[in-house]
Amino acid sequence: MNPYRAGWCGDVRKPRVGEKLRVAGWVDRRRDHGGLVFIDLRDRSGVVQVVFNPEAAPEAHERAHELRPEWVITVHGEVVPRSPETVNAEMPTGEVEIRVTEVEVLAEAETPPFPLDETTQVDEALRLEYRYLDLRREPMQRALELRHRTIRAIRSYLDEQGFLDIETPVLTRSTPEGARDFVVPSRMQPGSWYALPQSPQLFKQLLMVAGCERYYQIARCFRDEDLRADRQPEFTQLDIEMSFVTQEDVIEVSEGVIAAAFAAAGVELTPPFARMTYADAVSRFGSDRPDLRFGLEIEDLSDELRGTEFKVFRSVLDDGGVVRGLNAGKHQLSRAELDGLIDFAKQQGAGGLVWGYVEQDGWGAPIAKFLGDDETDGIVSRLKGEVGDLLLIVADGPAVAARTLGALRGELAGRYGLARDEWNTAWITDFPLVEWNEDERRWDALHHPFTAPSADTIDLLPSAPGEVRADAYDLVVNGVELGGGSIRINRPEVQYAVLEALGIDRAEADDKFGFLIKALQHGAPPHGGIAFGLDRLVALLAGCESIRDVIAFPKTASGGDPMTGAPAPLDRRQLRELGLSGKPPA
Ligand code: AMO
Repeated sequence: MNPYRAGWCGDVRKPRVGEKLRVAGWVDRRRDHGGLVFIDLRDRSGVVQVVFNPEAAPEAHERAHELRPEWVITVHGEVVPRSPETVNAEMPTGEVEIRVTEVEVLAEAETPPFPLDETTQVDEALRLEYRYLDLRREPMQRALELRHRTIRAIRSYLDEQGFLDIETPVLTRSTPEGARDFVVPSRMQPGSWYALPQSPQLFKQLLMVAGCERYYQIARCFRDEDLRADRQPEFTQLDIEMSFVTQEDVIEVSEGVIAAAFAAAGVELTPPFARMTYADAVSRFGSDRPDLRFGLEIEDLSDELRGTEFKVFRSVLDDGGVVRGLNAGKHQLSRAELDGLIDFAKQQGAGGLVWGYVEQDGWGAPIAKFLGDDETDGIVSRLKGEVGDLLLIVADGPAVAARTLGALRGELAGRYGLARDEWNTAWITDFPLVEWNEDERRWDALHHPFTAPSADTIDLLPSAPGEVRADAYDLVVNGVELGGGSIRINRPEVQYAVLEALGIDRAEADDKFGFLIKALQHGAPPHGGIAFGLDRLVALLAGCESIRDVIAFPKTASGGDPMTGAPAPLDRRQLRELGLSGKPPA
């Protein structure tokens, strides 16, 4: 017989009244009431109240006085009903308690550095330093369980669909996914380095060349990039690849697996999900991951202002820019709040923000005096302005205008609680293959360099790369980019041509991606796939703001782990062995 427990705390319910039971766990709370001592005993399954009675079990009662929060104990006793006035309807086990006859302390514990209840706000650095205590808290336990259930549902769905779970290396060569690599020095080949994979992209393509047909992996990925609430240096993808497929096949499997994952959290999603082109998403919502739970649609006002003489608009339009705006609705903002919005727009890179309220006799904007009546009427009517509506306008390059108005949409929706309470799924499709990188003065892949150009635009590759569309698709849920993928290039000459458009000549292509191109020369099936951010998926389902709350041991914003102290300096001997001269520890 197990000396610690014969059942879980959370399972001690009414039908077990009369049973003699042994349970184990952590002391959640101790209360002394007259002669009686009450302990809330906690294990993963929940909390049960155990009672020490000085008359019935004097020895156990004596020990009970010493028990402190987070001590680990095992108790034996009888399950008894609570008297009606002491029933706790808030607790699943609140109708019963265990009358203790024996207690044993299995481990003592220091006073925790923060209360382990659900409500106390604790500094995150402290939570991460004592993550093993933080994870004892109920919401964290629930998040880990949800993550487990989600992964189980994903595996089971993909298994039914004939997918093989195949692992790929972690010590490998750089894969270009747009971030910096984490690298590992080789001891056996001094001066050479492994890169940790930013994703299994190239390996999953090689598995298609290898005839695996349908691959998936819950894969750890590593990207050295600036961290945010939805980004970790080490994160997990649900990574999928399929052979002999079109975009439609990948989308169908994706919708199935995402619906299965949501179902594991009790949420019903019904495929097919909505679709929107990249061009639409950017022009109407100012983002390629638009939050469609609220309106605030962006309208182009260039037609209305074609002949304008207002200097600011005129010069922007003459330089190939745009004038776009949105109707923020009937919100009376103070001057300071309006200045705040202008600053917000400037932070997004815009030169400024034009504002004004719709009044009985037209648009009451400070700049209205520089516009003709037909122009202000045109603006009001295009933005469907009614009396009292605040209209916001940005005149700038198309990308800056989109980004600024997109960010303003999000800001206003957050401020006024506009997002509908729903799960809003949308595929974004018809991406451009490449985008212009002004700093480096070159074309960059919008997804990655292995994405196939669409058949109807591929001929434009040498002459007008910016016009080429990609067979690529992203899944956006409530404004979160949950996943992205594409149909891949399966012919070597197309791969060379795309790399060339990105400024990578044959020699460099052979040097960096020779192994992939060689494989494509050995008969690669048409193939495509997708990867979903698993941490983001679970965070969405758990209703967490940050993916850190659904990762057992995440890193801080500066990439550190306050618990282990990683990253840490190496000692001289290790450095020497690796042929490195690093800053040795002080
Ligand atoms: P991509 O780079 O779009 O595509 O990544 C896929 C998804 O992974 C998640 N994600 C992240 N989650 C947490 N922290 C990060 N730092 C992070 N970076 C990305 C996002 C994103 O949508 N190989 C391609 C996929 C393919 O083409 O099949 C890839 O990795 O949810």
